[in-house]
Amino acid sequence: MNRIYLIGFMGAGKSTLGRELAASMGYAFLDMDELICRQAGRPVSDIFAENGESFFRILEREILHQTILAHHTIIACGGGTPCYADNMDWMKRRGVVIWLQEEASVLAYRLSNEQAGRPLLKHDENSTLEDHIRILLSQRESIYARAHFTLSNASPDKALRLLKGNG
Ligand code: S3P
Repeated sequence: MNRIYLIGFMGAGKSTLGRELAASMGYAFLDMDELICRQAGRPVSDIFAENGESFFRILEREILHQTILAHHTIIACGGGTPCYADNMDWMKRRGVVIWLQEEASVLAYRLSNEQAGRPLLKHDENSTLEDHIRILLSQRESIYARAHFTLSNASPDKALRLLKGNG
């Protein structure tokens, strides 16, 4: 297992779990959103506001392709990474892909105070954050489900057991 790609909706814990998993496996850790921001010199929300989502997706794909240079590395993807272009197939050919699956209600609870940097969480006043997440999630779930593995209520221990084949 050279590269492990963690995918899943915003708030699923890709970065937090990825860091912990990397530490316990002695792997390096990469966060795709961080790399995009570093390369672009500005936060995700500014990229969306100034250049639009399609420009962000192009940057995201470029950064994804750079992960081919990473070895023994856990990579936390952005929530939308597997859903654009051929990104999911690309990752599946070059690493192990794990979907961190969470309920919309759990995601809404976790994201309720973290909407500022996430342009896709903007929703109209007549709907709740949870309803908005439920709709986005329903559009993405069939893509996330193509991962090699699915982990619900993920923890580093659960992920380790899964990767060792005892999960
Ligand atoms: C996105 C998720 C974000 C970030 C961008 C778009 C998405 O990453 O890449 O705001 O399309 O779901 P996180 O999942 O790390 O918040």
